[in-house]
Amino acid sequence: MSERRPKGWPARATIVEVGLRDGLQAERAILPTETKLDLARQLIAAGIRHLELTSFVSPRAVPQLADAEELLARLGRPAGVEITALVPNAKGAERAARAGVGGMVVFLSASESHNRKNLNRGIDRSLADVAEVTMIGEAAGIPVHAALSVAFGCPFEGEVPLDRVVGIAEELAMLGIRRLSLGDTTGMATPPLVRERVEALRAKLPRLELALHFHNTRGIGLCNVMAGLDCGIDRFESSIGGLGGCPFAAGATGNVCTEDLVYLLEECGVATGIDLEAAIAAAKAFERAVGRPLPGQVMKAGPRLKLHPLDAVATATG
Ligand code: COA
Ligand code: ZN
Repeated sequence: MSERRPKGWPARATIVEVGLRDGLQAERAILPTETKLDLARQLIAAGIRHLELTSFVSPRAVPQLADAEELLARLGRPAGVEITALVPNAKGAERAARAGVGGMVVFLSASESHNRKNLNRGIDRSLADVAEVTMIGEAAGIPVHAALSVAFGCPFEGEVPLDRVVGIAEELAMLGIRRLSLGDTTGMATPPLVRERVEALRAKLPRLELALHFHNTRGIGLCNVMAGLDCGIDRFESSIGGLGGCPFAAGATGNVCTEDLVYLLEECGVATGIDLEAAIAAAKAFERAVGRPLPGQVMKAGPRLKLHPLDAVATATG
């Protein structure tokens, strides 16, 4: 295996499955809690060890995730699985702490316009919310991580300056955040931008753990993952079947697809702990649940060495 792995790449990577959160928030249909529970269990059975389960946001803003408390209570805390949820503010943090979440992910945007669309407030006010959330997390003994949306470009403002991303990351680190996910909300990241941002953050904040969250909006999600791997990043967020999208960002589409990512990583000698066939089965279950075809590709083609019977296709005869 190791000789297949490009130099500098990690030997193992953690895949953070965000389909139940990023995926379902963008679906028109609201899935019953029971269905979400079945899907969550399938993902865990496939080997997912970090599940972003839901969001404790306003149920008026995101009705698809209004059952956060019930879902968490019914799933419980499966052994060996990190269960996290998004929280935007103190109210969300209090709800998440009461519900016994394993970790909170407080979120804000790197552009003023997207922050206002997504959180109905400016970045400064969101940073004050982060401070409150970290205090609630600390008091409850629950780790608080952060996610920065539109970190590679904003659909309303265009380029997001590197300085802004680094500046917000510094503020987050000062507030006690130790893990930051860089979100590419509408698929504006490119490999050079990934390298630039990861290297700048590493240089300024060497102790900050980084995760990458790409959307495949322009078809280069996995190329961006490879750029991240080149920089030694070992935590990637993805959605089963390639579900996903932010309802408060123009032109947002699906995340990098989990089983396609598992396929890439395992073929490159990076261990994920996820069973590809089981992940494909979970993707098909999600497809049935949302009632529309999902963009994942390995779920359609199967693993690389899947063999087809010779008589499955006609022989080309002249
Ligand atoms: N959970 C549940 N309800 C909440 C809440 C939370 N985390 N935060 C606020 N509310 C409620 C308030 O209690 C208040 O309810 P009331 O009118 O019944 O008293 C109402 O929402 C308005 O509160 P306010 O603080 O003024 O919020 P707002 O209207 O400015 O909205 C957010 C701000 C952050 C709550 C909202 O923009 C939001 O939920 N955004 C999340 C968007 C998202 O999930 N995007 C996708 C992820 S990238
Ligand atoms: Zn996303």
